[in-house]
Amino acid sequence: MLTSENILKAVVLAGGFGTRLRPLSCSRPKMLFPVANQPLIDYTLRNLAQGGVDTVILSVYYMAENLVRYLGPSKFDSGILYSREQRPLGTGGAIKKAQDIVNHETFFAMNGDILTDLDYRRLLNFHKEKGGLATIALMQVPDPSRYGAVELDWEGRILRFVEKPERGKEPSNLINAGVYVLEPEVLEYIPDGAARVSIETEVFPRLAEERKLYGFESHGFWMDVGLPEDYLHANAVLLSKTAQAKSPESVKIDPAAVIKKPCIFGENVRIGADSIIGPNVSLSDEVHVGKGCRIENSVVFPGAVIEDYSSVRNAIIGENAVLARWVKVESGSLIGDYAQISDGVTITENVYICPSKTVDESILVSKQVM
Ligand code: GDD
Ligand code: MG
Repeated sequence: MLTSENILKAVVLAGGFGTRLRPLSCSRPKMLFPVANQPLIDYTLRNLAQGGVDTVILSVYYMAENLVRYLGPSKFDSGILYSREQRPLGTGGAIKKAQDIVNHETFFAMNGDILTDLDYRRLLNFHKEKGGLATIALMQVPDPSRYGAVELDWEGRILRFVEKPERGKEPSNLINAGVYVLEPEVLEYIPDGAARVSIETEVFPRLAEERKLYGFESHGFWMDVGLPEDYLHANAVLLSKTAQAKSPESVKIDPAAVIKKPCIFGENVRIGADSIIGPNVSLSDEVHVGKGCRIENSVVFPGAVIEDYSSVRNAIIGENAVLARWVKVESGSLIGDYAQISDGVTITENVYICPSKTVDESILVSKQVM
């Protein structure tokens, strides 16, 4: 077994479809969604580098090209190697595929769609102290049914691991935070060539039964960015943690506009008179907002245009989408890239508008508009 000084590799699972963020995830992988105007993957890579990881193996499938193009061969002092799947192998299969790079050493593996300030060194030290085959970082949450939940004994051993337990039948409120330290022997628990192998349903329950699985309770900041509301919440939290000291010089805000902090504005953002922006708003590069608009708790992707007197609340507006005048976009709605919403249209709550769609009439029931 290696020491904390020379464990250097982390497999980051970044191949999922991001289904719950469609239609925005149709044109970019979830790992590239901007959080406080920085791609989600950047936070993970920075934190891993700070934890002493010098090689990240990014396990990619869906929209792999976008990730390779954005990250290239290195970022934040870590080298990045890509493990590409021809078909989705599942979380276990994807980890197994990276085995040649892992090369018989203790390694980290993690879900790429979480935001956390977890201390990787402490997790590793705990793992070494306990001497199991795998250690999972755990978090307390109010509703464990969306996650993998565990039963933990007083020594930190996981007695039971249940993926997506039925409501009311959860072993506890402690859930799998999606970050693991694994011994190379764990790879032997993952069959070769099987259709898809989930480490959560096929490997962790077995390791728990064999009493070789440990859990490290973390109390820091942690979020899974799976649903639109999680994404907006993550954005709001990150905005409050990393409030922008000063907007880029290229940003032009009319003196009669009101900015309610925290907000972040990318390059060349324009905001017209009497618009009220914030709190918790990210406007990416080249976003233009007219006069008399109201934007609150929302993320607007690059190049989108929001014309005069329109309002956006708890919503996500895709790249180069256009909201004409007097448009209203309500809570939980997602407007796809290049969509055009005509003058006076109201988009009610939880409506998903597909990319490039033109919408001329109000949509007053929650639905997906193809
Ligand atoms: N390379 C690759 N190949 N990556 C994959 C694949 C695959 O076939 N399938 C999923 N992933 C990646 C996703 O991109 C994501 O980063 C991660 O694996 C987890 O998949 P999700 O689909 O997001 O799972 P989840 O959120 O429902 O549940 C998982 O995360 C929870 C914590 O956030 C589980 O690990 C739960 O046990 C855990 O509590
Ligand atoms: Mg997830």
